Amino acid sequence: MIKLLCCALVFLDISIKWTTQEAFPPKYLRYDPESSSKLLCDQCPPGTYLKQHCTARRKTLCAPCPNDYYTNTWHTSDECLYCSSTCKEMQYVKQECNSTHDRVCECREGRYLEVEFCLKHRSCPPGFGVLQAGTPEQNTVCKRCPDGFFSNETSSKAPCRKHTNCTALGLLLTQKGNTTHDNICSENNELTHRCGIDVTLCEEAFFRFAVPTKFTPNWLSVLVDNLPGTKINAESVERIKRRHSSQEQTFQLLKLWKHQNKDQDMVKKIIQDIDLCENSVQKHLAHTNLTFGQLSRLMDSLPGRKVTTEDIEGTAKVCSSSEQILKLLSLWRTKNGDQDTLKGLTHALRHLKTYHFPKTAAQSLKKTIRFLHSFTMYRLYQKLFLEIIGNQVQSEKISCL
Ligand SMILES: *[C@@H]1O[C@H](CO)[C@@H](O)[C@H](O)[C@H]1NC(C)=O
Ligand SMILES: *[C@@H]1O[C@H](CO)[C@@H](O)[C@H](O)[C@H]1NC(C)=O
Ligand SMILES: *[C@@H]1O[C@H](CO)[C@@H](O)[C@H](O)[C@H]1NC(C)=O
Ligand SMILES: *[C@@H]1O[C@H](CO)[C@@H](O)[C@H](O)[C@H]1NC(C)=O
Ligand SMILES: *[C@@H]1O[C@H](CO)[C@@H](O)[C@H](O)[C@H]1NC(C)=O
Repeated sequence: MIKLLCCALVFLDISIKWTTQEAFPPKYLRYDPESSSKLLCDQCPPGTYLKQHCTARRKTLCAPCPNDYYTNTWHTSDECLYCSSTCKEMQYVKQECNSTHDRVCECREGRYLEVEFCLKHRSCPPGFGVLQAGTPEQNTVCKRCPDGFFSNETSSKAPCRKHTNCTALGLLLTQKGNTTHDNICSENNELTHRCGIDVTLCEEAFFRFAVPTKFTPNWLSVLVDNLPGTKINAESVERIKRRHSSQEQTFQLLKLWKHQNKDQDMVKKIIQDIDLCENSVQKHLAHTNLTFGQLSRLMDSLPGRKVTTEDIEGTAKVCSSSEQILKLLSLWRTKNGDQDTLKGLTHALRHLKTYHFPKTAAQSLKKTIRFLHSFTMYRLYQKLFLEIIGNQVQSEKISCL
């Protein structure tokens, strides 16, 4: 027991001595045959090899490593290490070898070292984004895009991106995004659609259908009283009466009513029907594709005040080819005090015969006119006037009798 404790003390003693002496430069223990004693020699610094051990009379002798050799620690070796041979395939020399550092090779851009080979960094597929970009030592780390984020590409660099905030851009969200698709925003048509057709042919045809063919006393007041939703105020009714012919008044009133009640379910249904009708009109007109000259000729043939060349040029710039006729007709209509476009167009087509005008385009236009006078319109009309107002109008008429 006493012996053991004694040993422990000796050991402690030595270890304290050793650590203090280890400070700098590092030493090593060496038996010197000349003096027959144990010496503490200096180790050799990086960049050198040990040439001669120290003796009682002189210090350790170190010599510089030859070319292509190195040592990178304090040591007691009588040889330097050979620099690693050239870099592997797909690697480049990051640091050349010098006397204190071995050559450092690294995988080229876009690759990482897997055992012996430089492999390409993984690409994250759509729906996944890069969480940690790959390094020369590590592959890419991908992560599924969380709610509100998306990635629509296969990439080893792109993180998930935030869905575009349509509202913040002042746009409407037309399709909600998911992990692979961004939100799709659209311009708020009413405010910014540049082609901007005020009243479409369908809308006009539909509202004109509502004009009674026989003289109906107080027709406008009856209409105002019976239209559902927000009532049109008396001032507006008076204004419409002042500014428009009796033929035009119904149309103007319905236009205003539709605008004031856009959020009403019934108006929404009517708008849907009008949209369907417009799609058909677009289809009818899709193949007309008129040149500037042809458009000018068509516009010239319309009665009344003419649409100007500047108007036609402007329209050609901002409207798609299928919208151009519609826009020009709408311009003509406003210029001529809200004339009936279909009547004007029918007139124009009769007079166009003397001009050079593509037959197919003329036919498309005629078909469009026929379509707008057709059953579709009647159905639309029925929905609004017979089913909803009709009954009330009738009872009103009956009570008047
Ligand atoms: C050897 O290269 C390393 C790393 O590039 C550098 O830090 C060191 O100073 C160089 N040594 C000599 C002796 O040139
Ligand atoms: C979008 O932007 C609006 C207005 O800047 C903000 O109120 C809303 O929280 C944003 N939505 C998202 C999903 O970030
Ligand atoms: C994301 O939405 C697009 C269309 O917007 C659809 O084609 C796709 O299948 C959807 N993906 C997922 C994962 O729901
Ligand atoms: C990915 O989404 C962005 C933003 O919506 C879009 O600009 C880009 O064209 C899309 N890329 C592909 C390949 O669909
Ligand atoms: C319309 O006609 C023009 C030339 O007359 C042609 O360049 C254009 O491709 C046509 N467009 C369509 C949609 O047919």
